[in-house]
Amino acid sequence: MVARIIDGKVVSADVKSKVKKAVERLKDRGVQPCLATVLAGDDPASATYVGSKQNDAKEVGIATRDHRLAATFKQSELVELVQLLNNDPEIHGILVQLPLPKQIDEFEIIAALSPLKDVDGLTPYNSGMLQSGMGLLKPCTPSGIMELFDYYKIDVAGMDAVVVNRSNLVGKPLALLLLERDATVTICHSKTKDLDEKLRNADLVVTAVGNRPRFTLTGSMIKEGSIVIDVGTARLDNKLVGDADFESVKQKASWVTPVPGGVGLMTRAMLLKNTVTAASIAREMSR
Ligand SMILES: NC(=O)c1ccc[n+]([C@@H]2O[C@H](COP(=O)([O-])OP(=O)(O)OC[C@H]3O[C@@H](n4cnc5c(N)ncnc54)[C@H](OP(=O)(O)O)[C@@H]3O)[C@@H](O)[C@H]2O)c1
Repeated sequence: MVARIIDGKVVSADVKSKVKKAVERLKDRGVQPCLATVLAGDDPASATYVGSKQNDAKEVGIATRDHRLAATFKQSELVELVQLLNNDPEIHGILVQLPLPKQIDEFEIIAALSPLKDVDGLTPYNSGMLQSGMGLLKPCTPSGIMELFDYYKIDVAGMDAVVVNRSNLVGKPLALLLLERDATVTICHSKTKDLDEKLRNADLVVTAVGNRPRFTLTGSMIKEGSIVIDVGTARLDNKLVGDADFESVKQKASWVTPVPGGVGLMTRAMLLKNTVTAASIAREMSR
């Protein structure tokens, strides 16, 4: 079997074009959707990510506000900035670029965000809503994967799904969204026993490790006809790669996402979708 490609370029372009139309509708009603980005510290990779997110926003007509704190910033300064942005009616979405420097209590910062402006979907309130099946602003990577399933009409109901990741950003919210769609989900991680056996029996594998020397998903590790969603990003021979050895997985799977050109683009598109959703909620609440 040769897998069909789940093309993040096509699906993210579709999401972005819908977002662009929603932005135009909001502007016609006097609302300019606006995303505030917060870059705290001097991590060059984070600076690049923030730059890309701002460009994505501009592309669909979302305004951006750029906030930066020098590497020596204190926890209280960041909390104050978040509160300022929470109270600014012209700002609809707040993106605090993660990870934050080690001395910062990341949870306290995330918890300080207004859930209505939490476009990463990570606040305790939005996590709880997701767990109750009522998520509105959902984490971008897992919800981007659901968009891929919707676009390609992949129904995961009844499938045995293995998620190799247990982070708050990817694995846990993804497991909830897969459960909502009636998959049977096993969350795996670095301490999981018999991972090989679990992978071999899975109908759907979502992998997000990002460390090729520690974990590479090859075709021989998966079931014939399974679906492979590759979230991981790693560098191999100076090239951006996922967790999967794409060529061997492609020979065995029924569907596979490439890296680059897969889930990463969806994550970026879903941030825009969340921002426009947040702007629509703000408009409804002010009426
Ligand atoms: N494409 C995108 O849009 C996107 C978005 C988010 C993240 N990512 C990528 O996804 C990856 C994970 O991100 P993250 O923030 O969730 O990082 P993380 O918190 O470090 O998660 C990595 C996960 O992999 C597990 N793991 C590590 N080695 C393993 C092994 N040998 N076998 C099985 N599991 C193993 C870890 O287990 P433990 O919990 O036991 O340590 C952990 O759950 C990174 O490459 C990141 O760049 C991509």
